[in-house]
Amino acid sequence: MRTGIPSRTAFAAASHRAAHQILEKGSIFSDPLALRILGVDAETVVREAEAQPLRRGMRIFIAVRTRFAEDALAAAVERGVRQLVVLGAGLDTYAYRSNLRDRLRIFEVDHPATQEWKRQRLAEAAIPIPDSLTFAPTDFERETLSDGLASAGFDSSQQTFFTWLGVVPYLTADAFWATIRFIAGVPTGAHVVFDYSNPPSSFSEEARANYEKRAARVAELGEAWLTHFESDDLCAKLQQLGFAEIEDIGPREMAARYFPRTPNSIPEKGGHVLRATKI
Ligand SMILES: C[S@@+](CC[C@H](N)C(=O)[O-])C[C@H]1O[C@@H](n2cnc3c(N)ncnc32)[C@H](O)[C@@H]1O
Repeated sequence: MRTGIPSRTAFAAASHRAAHQILEKGSIFSDPLALRILGVDAETVVREAEAQPLRRGMRIFIAVRTRFAEDALAAAVERGVRQLVVLGAGLDTYAYRSNLRDRLRIFEVDHPATQEWKRQRLAEAAIPIPDSLTFAPTDFERETLSDGLASAGFDSSQQTFFTWLGVVPYLTADAFWATIRFIAGVPTGAHVVFDYSNPPSSFSEEARANYEKRAARVAELGEAWLTHFESDDLCAKLQQLGFAEIEDIGPREMAARYFPRTPNSIPEKGGHVLRATKI
């Protein structure tokens, strides 16, 4: 990310969530605050979403990863988890709208410049900040998550759920593994949901060309994609760190689970969303 400048891709991800509410009527993931926090009118959101047909794929992917994370979180809350850390929160609205928020202590961790901008957006949109929420500004490339959370009052004796959506590709592999090791080290157990991409070298020619267009766009914004994983390799390493339960879904499983009428031409490789649990 560019120093001192809030994440432009956080705005883009939030725009996709807002567009999903309008164009697909929130059929995969419903977020009544998505448009309000963005501060852009519905017509502009729709116009921009429809200007590029390629945006639909990313919009659906973002809706799916959010739905997958929130379903897994709801199940964990049912099993007694009471602490949530939203890593790289961007304009995520979970803490402000979920009916489970009163059962959770929530920490939003993000790059300081993005978090400051989010707080301005919340104020301008008159979205109240719940008592259960604490902001923990942290730059993953310069500070440890442990330090960032410790100064915010994180309770490491509590089993914790971490959501980490739309962030992993932008980090170096070192920063990714440092964060995962911290999560694996929560003594009473942890759950993490994050999304990642397979290496573009494993995509079809057409998918790779689309990927490269999107990669060039985010690099121009100063937020290049740096890290990809082969799924088997990633899952093996997570298991070595003690994550005994892993649910990793790729393009085909996502389509089957969340939009089953899609034709069968879905590639095997692409974007994934993964839940790993260590108890
Ligand atoms: C694509 S946005 C995703 C935001 C949000 N999770 C969502 O799904 O809308 C990427 C997020 O990663 C955060 N991020 C990127 N690099 C970071 C870093 N080095 N330290 C902390 N946060 C970072 C950005 O501030 C931004 O909020």
